[in-house]
Amino acid sequence: MKLERLAPCKINLLLNVLGRRSDGFHELETVLLPLPLADRLTFELAEGPITLSCDHPELPVDASNLVHRAATEFCARARVTCGVRIHLEKRVPLAAGLGGGSSNAACTLLALNQLFGLPLAESTLHALAAALGSDVPFFLSEGPALGTGRGEQITALRPFEVLRGGHLLLIHPGFGVSTPWAYQHLSRHPAARDGQPGRALALIETLHRGDLASAARQFYNALEAPVFEKHPWLALVREFLEAQGALAARMSGSGSTTFALLERRDAAERLRAEVQARFGTNLWTAILEL
Ligand code: C5P
Repeated sequence: MKLERLAPCKINLLLNVLGRRSDGFHELETVLLPLPLADRLTFELAEGPITLSCDHPELPVDASNLVHRAATEFCARARVTCGVRIHLEKRVPLAAGLGGGSSNAACTLLALNQLFGLPLAESTLHALAAALGSDVPFFLSEGPALGTGRGEQITALRPFEVLRGGHLLLIHPGFGVSTPWAYQHLSRHPAARDGQPGRALALIETLHRGDLASAARQFYNALEAPVFEKHPWLALVREFLEAQGALAARMSGSGSTTFALLERRDAAERLRAEVQARFGTNLWTAILEL
């Protein structure tokens, strides 16, 4: 039996860090939006151990890979002998702040649960997902969500109708940012590390009210402070995108992808051409309709 699944990525419209916790993680509130850009995974029951292959040469396919870890954890918890062959076609850039690896892991948990006849309840899948990474539980369901705690506590949100038909220009510079590094270096930026709670609910309210211009001004990412200090180029890109007419531009997650929101596709195409003329053509870019 073979299953094919798409694993979509996400952006954080808002990522407000509320302080460092005693377990070393950071408390946060984040507004997560799934994007129509996805990796493709296939799962096939097979003899022998868990095997993973991938079309991206830089991604390790050994037991350190989050897909491999998700499959191993699933089989242990479900008490099944996991002969399974997994193939991953990467479309989402790596270490990009788009949650690609987390989405692949959640997709693996859901697909294996289906392949093995639904041995695990939703709450068990959620616990496995949270143990794999703070962003993984978000990808167990569809649609936008509020993330709290270290990001793993998910509240599903009504779709943001006001964004429908809008366009995102995504820009990835070709280098990644380490998530632990970004959080660790928040200690140099106490104002960004110790944000006031309430910004997420305020943004959600504005989005549901349908006020796009105000919502765009409320987009926020506390991790820009440490990441822009190390990579000033990313700050220049963000400034450029906003100066050239994007409704808003922000880094997603711990970077290094920047997204710009525009109403129309032709404006997004023009902006991409301007970014390439200014910053070079060897950037990874994508234009997505929401
Ligand atoms: O949970 P995840 O594996 O994505 O976290 C990677 C690292 O990012 C953690 O080990 C921690 O250093 C940092 N992190 C954090 N606070 C969060 C999420 C991640 O400090 N809410």
